[in-house]
Amino acid sequence: MRDVAIIGIGMTKFGELWEKSLRDIAVEAALKCMKDAGTKRIDSITIGCMSSGLFNGQEHLASMISDYLGNKHTPATRVESACASGGLAVRTAFMEVASGMSEYALAIGVEKMNDVSGDKATEALATAADGDYEAFHGINFPGLYALMAKAHMHKYGTTRDQLSQVAVKNHHNGSLNPHAQFPMEITKNTVTGSARVADPLYLFDCSPVTDGGAAVLLTTVEEARKLGKQPIVVISGIGVATDTIQLCQRKDILTLEAVKLAGERALKMAGKTIRDIDFAEVHDCFTIAEIMVMEALGIVEPGQGGPATESGLTALDGKFPINPSGGLKSKGHPVGATGVAQICEAVTQLRGEAGKRQINNAKTALTQNMGGSGGSCVIHILEVK
Ligand code: COA
Repeated sequence: MRDVAIIGIGMTKFGELWEKSLRDIAVEAALKCMKDAGTKRIDSITIGCMSSGLFNGQEHLASMISDYLGNKHTPATRVESACASGGLAVRTAFMEVASGMSEYALAIGVEKMNDVSGDKATEALATAADGDYEAFHGINFPGLYALMAKAHMHKYGTTRDQLSQVAVKNHHNGSLNPHAQFPMEITKNTVTGSARVADPLYLFDCSPVTDGGAAVLLTTVEEARKLGKQPIVVISGIGVATDTIQLCQRKDILTLEAVKLAGERALKMAGKTIRDIDFAEVHDCFTIAEIMVMEALGIVEPGQGGPATESGLTALDGKFPINPSGGLKSKGHPVGATGVAQICEAVTQLRGEAGKRQINNAKTALTQNMGGSGGSCVIHILEVK
């Protein structure tokens, strides 16, 4: 396999983008990425998108976006793994370059979720749960994560305050991110004073419904050197794993097995342990998810995610910063774009370009992108070479 570098990143603002269509959003992110890379060469395109059919009535996305980008004859593929579609797109682009199929591979993540009403968006998202055994019976993602939160509180003593602290921390980081959908500071009272969505989760425990796009351009390390890129950020490890998408079929609903396995695979490929990682962007689709992901990755022991958050471990200036971008909670969660946006944040941090949210001396990053309630997971390890 050839060594792969990320030479360009680009993102749209996340939020309610009424004046832009799905294709406008994807193309804007891609053009910003090409400008950042300083090249227009693209040998293949991979689009990560969860559900443009249900959100926008548009399928056949890979061809449509390639054409609109001005690359109509370029090989283009769309990949889907629910909310992990973006991470999967980056992995596919990585394989294009690593295998020698492409010299320059573009990955775009995109979703425009606000074109439908809130109940239709919930219905579309629920197609990432098991249709026959979960969604048919009326349970959706806030409900599934609420079940996990209740069980976590019962087994480990995780408190309502600790859940709120995840949101408070991520909104603080998001307040420093110009791309964020909800860039405001909040307090724990903001969380428990908001509408209850599914007990014990409130509105401010949930990631929002978001429009947005993100793109990354990959090539070989050799090409990156020729282009004079400095520093060179490489993808040194990737892990993917799946699990039952039905929560009730898991041996233990408090262990995110796909996250654990994908993490082990990515770290093994990079020749690292979790102790070698300086910071992580993780899939905090609900506050409890960030806590459970920390535990599955081995950042803390099972049951310790809540206390560790409360102690400041995961704050911007903590020993293991998590979600410097503001995470899905504050930055927003356009589902197909999220995995690519996580990579954009990691590269921004590793280049030392994150401004007020810059993590000191960041050299190694982990991004964790998850489908549904953990039925799929894609993890990347990024390093400065
Ligand atoms: N956090 C903070 N504020 C939020 C928010 C969020 N997650 N979602 C919406 N808001 C705000 C809106 O800005 C709006 O504020 P305003 O009245 O000041 O304008 C208000 O809350 C109501 O917004 P609305 O869009 O009507 O909310 P909703 O009730 O339709 O949706 C949720 C709220 C929580 C149900 C929705 O955001 C949701 O489904 N989130 C989860 C998404 C998801 O499951 N993703 C996949 C994960 S696996």
